[in-house]
Amino acid sequence: MIFDDRFSVAPMMEWTDLHCRYFFRLISKYTVLYTEMITADAIIFGPRQKLLTFNREELPCVLQLGGSNPQNLAKAAKYGENYGYSQINLNIGCPSNRVQNGSFGACLMKEPYLVADCVKSIQDKCQIPVTIKCRIGVDQMDEEKGLDDFVDIVSEESVNIFIIHARKAILNGLSPKQNREIPPLNYNRVASLKKRRPDLKIIINGGINSISDGLALLQKDDFDGFMIGREAYKNPYILTSVDKDIFSKKKKTKTRYEIAMQMADYIDNFIKHEEGGVHSITRHILGLYNSLPGAKYWRQELSENARFSKNGDILRFATENIEKFINKKKSVLV
Ligand SMILES: Cc1cc2nc3c(=O)[nH]c(=O)nc-3n(C[C@H](O)[C@H](O)[C@H](O)COP(=O)(O)O)c2cc1C
Repeated sequence: MIFDDRFSVAPMMEWTDLHCRYFFRLISKYTVLYTEMITADAIIFGPRQKLLTFNREELPCVLQLGGSNPQNLAKAAKYGENYGYSQINLNIGCPSNRVQNGSFGACLMKEPYLVADCVKSIQDKCQIPVTIKCRIGVDQMDEEKGLDDFVDIVSEESVNIFIIHARKAILNGLSPKQNREIPPLNYNRVASLKKRRPDLKIIINGGINSISDGLALLQKDDFDGFMIGREAYKNPYILTSVDKDIFSKKKKTKTRYEIAMQMADYIDNFIKHEEGGVHSITRHILGLYNSLPGAKYWRQELSENARFSKNGDILRFATENIEKFINKKKSVLV
């Protein structure tokens, strides 16, 4: 599937599940969405249907895989292709101990030939493109030669899209959270890679906190796209400008109220067909009214009461209340 990947929301474990992606899609029709990282073994040996099922509305949606066994990755990727995912992305950036013990994630930056084998094995089985998400290096790796070698070796296998979190990963001593904050961001290093390899699509990630900051990076022509993670989750309504400002599509933007009401309908529909609490859906939308009057009330109402709800009415109730509150504030100010 060909799509415009100038902007994407990052894969985030326990955050970007199917409910979260459906919610993002209500706000932006064209943003590229990613699954959480799913290990190849979990897809092959685990609850495959639960892991891979998604709503068609989420497309374009990239399946991110974790693993380092070329055959298993190919098998898992093929399942993903059959389920209808748009692309396969290999996670070469996760620094967690669990992932290191399985010998995948960021530690694979030290094994470019193995990564190239993994890519080849997936490509032999699948028609959809394979992309890589990595860091600028790991541990003591030389950020210059190490990253150049990694990209050169892996791109030999006709991977031409690299998403690069512009920080090193420190594998011993920093937690995954610290690894997203402590190693310094180095956008220049990623820009110099793009300069050296203009034939590749280089997507920048890490520390981009607004759409306008991302657009400013694109305007310098150093990168082909940008990816935002945490800020999109905490403040999802920033996605509202993306279809017009990045993808140049004319589209009426939805209000927060409209989005919340559509999510309430989604909850009703989902709960009818699947097990799982209302809270498993509402937990992803707590940032919708971020920084508006009443946002705290809205978050609290949903966090405390969605667990006991059987349908989307709790969301309708909280939304009607916050909208009344916002309108009252506005009328006082006029
Ligand atoms: C809760 C959480 C879970 C994450 N899980 C993944 C993951 O499954 N795969 C991955 O490649 N990166 C994962 N990341 C890293 C993000 O994709 C992204 O690279 C990182 O947060 C930097 O981007 P940001 O500064 O825009 O958040 C995760 C980040 C967070 C906050």
